[in-house]
Amino acid sequence: MKYNFDEIIDRKENRAAKYDERKKKFGTDDVIPLWIADMDFKTAQPIIDSVKKRAEEGMWGYTSRPDSYFDAICDWKKRKHNWEIDKSLVSFSLGVVQTLAASVKILTKEGENVLIQTPVYSEFYDMVELSNRNVIENKIVERNDKWVIDFEDFEDKAKKANLFLLCNPHNPLGIVWTEEELKRMIDICIANDVVVVSDEIHSDLVFHDKKFVPAAIISKGIAENIIVAISGTKTFNLAGLQASTVVFPNLEMKNKFDKFWMSMDIHRNNAFSSNAMEAAFNEGDEWLEQVIEYISGNFDYVNGYCEKYIPEIITNRPDATYLMWLDCRALGMDNDELHNFMIEDAGLGLNDGNSFGRSLNGFMRLNAACPRPVLEKAMKQLEKAVKKLR
Ligand SMILES: Cc1ncc(COP(=O)(O)O)c(C=O)c1O
Repeated sequence: MKYNFDEIIDRKENRAAKYDERKKKFGTDDVIPLWIADMDFKTAQPIIDSVKKRAEEGMWGYTSRPDSYFDAICDWKKRKHNWEIDKSLVSFSLGVVQTLAASVKILTKEGENVLIQTPVYSEFYDMVELSNRNVIENKIVERNDKWVIDFEDFEDKAKKANLFLLCNPHNPLGIVWTEEELKRMIDICIANDVVVVSDEIHSDLVFHDKKFVPAAIISKGIAENIIVAISGTKTFNLAGLQASTVVFPNLEMKNKFDKFWMSMDIHRNNAFSSNAMEAAFNEGDEWLEQVIEYISGNFDYVNGYCEKYIPEIITNRPDATYLMWLDCRALGMDNDELHNFMIEDAGLGLNDGNSFGRSLNGFMRLNAACPRPVLEKAMKQLEKAVKKLR
């Protein structure tokens, strides 16, 4: 089946946070929302069909999770990333952020240090700080127009850390870490008794023939030392269904997490998520191939447009995620000015760069998972606003 991602779907009745929370986030509804990380595309038809079928049953009581649910996830990981997951070491989690939060609480004590690589998805800061732990930043640095890991600093920081939250692939920089980079980071952590949690939620949204490497397949030693959070919600635009998976290094660790979640009675999925996830992982390939091609075209469009008409803004071509990192430093604004400029002058609802890296100035993040005509309108508005500054 051929999907039409150019179709603009009115999300007014869709209870979409991306649209309904504009006023709260930007102070106005009058912005094109290109912020929170979901897609403005309908998901794959087999997923829609399976959820419809479930809805028509009309009974959504306490819901079981059949073996076929984890089978579908494990088969997908084997097929896509050559990762043979031991099903006995897998648990359900409502969300990847919930897994990060649980990891911080279970694996560290108040006042201890958690290492993150910034800029990074802002919840990495929040989940640490809301639990009264300290963030230690290994800043990803710009060298020869590329964002790279400062390994010397990483090793220095690892010596002081109790836990490392890895973002693999990386949001917001769109980096697919290589096997060498992953191995070097994780080996440093193992040598310094730092537990590693790898957030691999973006692992299926990979472009430009890059190869995603699951951290757990690099070596047996690494697999025995990391916790991996995976999910189909980003891949198939199902974030509202709240279902993710955790792969543990051993039973002892799995039991610790399961007990923690049980202590809050968090152990069942909602009535629709297991059906949706099974359909996604068993029958979602065709849609995913097409959406990746479409989003890749969106990256090219935004890049081409900025190069030609808005050279003050330098965009990246992410190798993963559908989130573009915009370098707006040439506009010469501080973060507040840039924030207001994007809302008031350009009419765009983007994420501020300093929410991902607090010491950064002059960056924004743009969600490119929307119909091309929406991006065309957004780029025209941005060009017009920048022109006025010249
Ligand atoms: C790196 C990363 N982890 C986790 C999440 C959210 O995960 P969940 O909705 O499963 O909590 C996001 C959403 O943007 C993300 O970018």
